[in-house]
Parts: sequence; C-alpha cells; structure tokens
Amino acid sequence: MIITIDGPAGTGKSTTARKVAEEMSYCLLDTGAMYRAITWGVIHYNIAHQDPQALQKFLQEHPLKLTSRFGERRYFLNSEDVSEHIRSPEVTALVSQISAYPIVREALVPIQRQSVQGMNAVCEGRDMGTTVFPKANLKIFLTANLDTRAQRRFSELKQNGKLSPTDTLESIKVNINKRDEFDAAREHSPMKPAEDAILIDTSALTLQQVVDQIIILTEQRSD
Ligand code: DC
Repeated sequence: MIITIDGPAGTGKSTTARKVAEEMSYCLLDTGAMYRAITWGVIHYNIAHQDPQALQKFLQEHPLKLTSRFGERRYFLNSEDVSEHIRSPEVTALVSQISAYPIVREALVPIQRQSVQGMNAVCEGRDMGTTVFPKANLKIFLTANLDTRAQRRFSELKQNGKLSPTDTLESIKVNINKRDEFDAAREHSPMKPAEDAILIDTSALTLQQVVDQIIILTEQRSD
C-alpha cells in the first residue's frame, strides 16, 4: 500500500507523514530530504549547477544512498553521511532551484521508487501523487493559508533554536511563498495535486486531526 502526501512548505506535511507512518507501522519516504542532500553536495563541492555537464558529472560521481539505522533514515552522498547538513538555511535557499533541473529529478525518481518497492509506505514530497507514484492507493494534498504556514515555520525554527537573527515572521512568509511559487511553476513535475488526490486544508486542524483523517482514509482504501 502506497500513501502519497504532497503539498507546499508549512502545511505540516513532514510531521504528518512521519506520524501516519509511525502509527500504521509503514515505512516513510521523505523525498525533500533527497533533493536537499543533492543541494548540499552542489554547495559543498562548489558545482557550477547551471552547466548541465558539470551537474551530470557531479550526480554520477556522488550517488545518493539511503539507509535506515534504528528506524532513522540517513542520507549518504558518495558514502559521506550528509544527514546533519541538509536542513541548513543555505540548502533551503537553493533547493528549489536544484530540484527543478530535470537531470536531478531523473537521478532521484528511480531511487524513490526502488526504496519502497513492495512495502507499505508513506511517501512525502511535491510530485509523489502525480509523477512518482501515479498508481498510489491513497493520494493526499495538504494545503493551508500562507499566514498559518509562515507562523508554523516560525514557531518550529524558534522551538528548535534555529531562528537566525535576520528571521522575522514576514521574511519567513516571503521565503516560503517564493519557494512554493517556484516549485509550482517549474516545467518538470511541478508541485500540484493529482487529479484523484484528496485535498485537506490543515489551517484550522491539529496535527492529530489530520493524521486521524489520513488513517481513516487509508483503512477505507485497504478494505
Ligand atoms: O519538503 P522540503 O522542504 O524538504 O523540500 C525541499 C525542496 O525540494 C522543495 O522546495 C521542493 C523540492 N522537492 C521537490 O521538488 N520534489 C519533491 N518530491 C520533494 C521536494
């Protein structure tokens, strides 16, 4: 059984996907983390990513591998564990641009499909229901208004001690809106709901309410 959860930043997508996977003992596939790992490599190795040949060479020489240790996913680029680096502000600022390159998507999509083959999995991203798993048993697209999403991201950064001195609610709002517009407007696998996706507006819902809705829908589909 494959459940896809897509949607823009700040809708509670990652936390929801993790909780649904935990409660149902499903495997979790966080595809944003994979695009982030590649983006970290592009920054770290100073790759001229606008040059398709340079980017292709980098992708070939730095294959991405996923492992699970004690139930926790780790991301390796050419055997180097990059998991601790992929949530940095530098990576967040560039990841939309890097994930829009078709050769990056062509390198990652087969790994995404392969890593959950034959499993029960919750797959989280932007194009899970449209491109990567078009035959998924259940497709969810989470939405929330921009103010709510910015407030959630602000609180999350503050709580994790990751709020930088230049971060304000307004700057976070501008950044997530910019990233979402870019992700939705790109030519290759843009962020959008699949035709058969169920839309859930999480603006006025708690995390547990969203998780419960998805679990009920999953149970209905597996009857
Ligand atoms: O979910 P996230 O913030 O970790 O995702 C980071 C970026 O990766 C996001 O801006 C768009 C891109 N992404 C994508 O293009 N396709 C996916 N399936 C997942 C993420």
